[in-house]
Amino acid sequence: MSAFKRLLIKNLSIPEEKEKFLPQGFQRIGTIVILNLKDPVLEYRKQIAEFVLKQFPYVKSVYVRSGKIHTEFKKPDIKWVAGEKNPVTEHKENGCLFRLDVTKLMFAKGNLRERGRVAKLAKEGETVTDMFAGIGYFSIPVAKHSKAKTIYAIEKNPTAFSFLKTNIKLNGVEKKVIPLLGDNRKVKIKEKADRILMGYFPSTRKFLQHAFDFLKNSGTIHYHDVFHKNELWEKPIQILKQEAMKKGYALKKTTYKHKVKSYAPRTYHIVIDAVFEK
Ligand SMILES: C[S@@+](CC[C@H](N)C(=O)[O-])C[C@H]1O[C@@H](n2cnc3c(N)ncnc32)[C@H](O)[C@@H]1O
Repeated sequence: MSAFKRLLIKNLSIPEEKEKFLPQGFQRIGTIVILNLKDPVLEYRKQIAEFVLKQFPYVKSVYVRSGKIHTEFKKPDIKWVAGEKNPVTEHKENGCLFRLDVTKLMFAKGNLRERGRVAKLAKEGETVTDMFAGIGYFSIPVAKHSKAKTIYAIEKNPTAFSFLKTNIKLNGVEKKVIPLLGDNRKVKIKEKADRILMGYFPSTRKFLQHAFDFLKNSGTIHYHDVFHKNELWEKPIQILKQEAMKKGYALKKTTYKHKVKSYAPRTYHIVIDAVFEK
């Protein structure tokens, strides 16, 4: 049992039979805490939230998440419970600042390591195209921590796009990151890229054809998607080879394969760094 859960049990009056449903921890985004509460303990949300505010002085507001993030825009179902009623906060990660509205946009905790890893990969002078830029989850750290020349950041959700533009300014990367509002299946970019970021899932495979439209004659695609344990790693590699062939490319090698996080039972959000040549 986590220290947080032990604290809740010790300090709140939750019936013993419901203790097992209490959360082990919480997600913090900037000064906002987001609690994932299971149905049996949802009625104690106010008590739990007030306790979090008292216990952790840096926390200004507490929100509760219910349901799963499943829509295309990944809008979470998050409701205010205690503290300041302001869902906009600034989150610091890997030396970058991300302003966002936690009730409208997501900030996936499980992708933290991946965001840090990709940030350092681009080599001097590279052009990068981020096909699913969101609020700048990848584009901003790549701009700050790599020597990439230009990062084209495509985002189709106007709310996310507005925060993307704010975050570009907040991090002082206006000279490197070019935000483009629109659907990556329709957006045209004259300059081809050395590196394509596809930080979105599931069914990212449907977008691979468009990724090749953005790629130079040789380059890397950071392909995220969801696969069952039994499909790893043959199936994603086969998909990459097939999709490349349709566009006149060949898969030269994969330089990284990783299970980012669990998505469903025996099903994983994975990432593959794949190098292609025309
Ligand atoms: C939420 S982000 C993924 C999370 C991120 N990788 C992280 O580390 O937390 C995915 C973004 O892709 C955007 N998106 C989805 N389909 C798109 C499309 N066809 N063209 C452009 N953007 C798209 C969504 O609006 C969303 O903002």
